Amino acid sequence: MDTLQYQSGFGNDWATEALPGALPSGQNSPQTCPYGLYAEQISGTAFTAPRAESRRSWAYRIRPGAKHLPFQACDAAPDWLSDFGRTPAPPNQMRWSPLPLPEAPTDFIEGMHTWGGNGSPDEQSGVGISLYAANRTMQGRFFYDADGELLIVPQQGRLRLATELGRIDIEPLEIAVIPRGIRFRVELPDGQARGYVLENFGAPLRLPELGPIGSNCLANARDFLTPQAWFEDIEGDFELIAKFTGGFWRARIGHSPLDVVAWHGTHAPYKYDLRRFNAIGSISYDHPDPSIFTVLTSPSDTHGTANMDFAIFPPRILAMEHTFRPPWFHRNVASEFMGLIHGVYDAKAEGFVPGGASLHNCMSGHGPDADTFEKASRADIRTSHYIRDTMAFMFETRRVIRPTAHALISPQLQADYYECWQGLARHFDPSKA
Ligand SMILES: [Fe+2]
Repeated sequence: MDTLQYQSGFGNDWATEALPGALPSGQNSPQTCPYGLYAEQISGTAFTAPRAESRRSWAYRIRPGAKHLPFQACDAAPDWLSDFGRTPAPPNQMRWSPLPLPEAPTDFIEGMHTWGGNGSPDEQSGVGISLYAANRTMQGRFFYDADGELLIVPQQGRLRLATELGRIDIEPLEIAVIPRGIRFRVELPDGQARGYVLENFGAPLRLPELGPIGSNCLANARDFLTPQAWFEDIEGDFELIAKFTGGFWRARIGHSPLDVVAWHGTHAPYKYDLRRFNAIGSISYDHPDPSIFTVLTSPSDTHGTANMDFAIFPPRILAMEHTFRPPWFHRNVASEFMGLIHGVYDAKAEGFVPGGASLHNCMSGHGPDADTFEKASRADIRTSHYIRDTMAFMFETRRVIRPTAHALISPQLQADYYECWQGLARHFDPSKA
């Protein structure tokens, strides 16, 4: 594969061209554009959004996005859902083994299986959480999601995301975000791929504020990469698949919509290498809350309460004294969906494996399993504990994550998950303080 070029930073007002002089100078929409291109604005936030939150890009393309035949409803992704129902969700702790790779030819869209979610595209609030397992490059078709932006977390196999604003390569331990409405194709350089997707119906993801941490740490802006302009000029009988109001729609299109020769603006895809995350933590005693591991956040309309936080649990050093070092027992008003990209998660001795997932919903008690508790309670904490070779993540949402029927009856559901806490012994002794 050819090596791709990127621009470094987060939320910049990018400017990039695949042909010299393709970007009009000093004007967004001149009477005629260089090279005979069409100008098209793609707005990802309200026209009147505050300047710091505004996301929009101007694309200079071979044909405008309007040129395709009418959409018709289709079943392009039969298990990719956005309706999470209103029936009560079980408060049980839940955990799943990894999704098996498909046997029949399955591309990224067809291989999406929604595991849970909340809110809806109509409300422009909430999230959908899916697992994907695919074994075929998207062939002769292109996709866009009008319902939300997509946060893609590969666990196995590389992806090449050929988007209308440029190409992104990601591998496990990297993530990518494709903004709402951006058209793209997913290619599988390794022939198969598996991972997690968060579809964010709410405000676009952004870097969290750092407060007293200061101007550095967590995910640093310079480590985010946005693609250079790239285009393909091909004609044929192709499909444009849209996800819109929770349904899937197919239109015939006579050319590749990945035909943007130059663009500038803020509404653009990006990637980030999770190994670049600059973790911080306690160097005295106790734990800070896991919000110190937030990579990206989608704020809600309630100040300080996110629609969704994307947090990771990366390699790090535990040095705090007089402290139970693994993640503690807790119950949380927020709901927590976790996945494991690589290695072992430090709160569980077994059962949570790469490609698997867990869900601890609002106020459902969870924490270390019995083995982890017993070991950590007796561990020598005079020395630092190096956690290496691991990468877990969490989608934390303010609303309950309602598991889909598919997730609840999946053969991957571990019916015995609750047992990991049943071995927690009674240590209480009123005679010993
Ligand atoms: Fe938790």
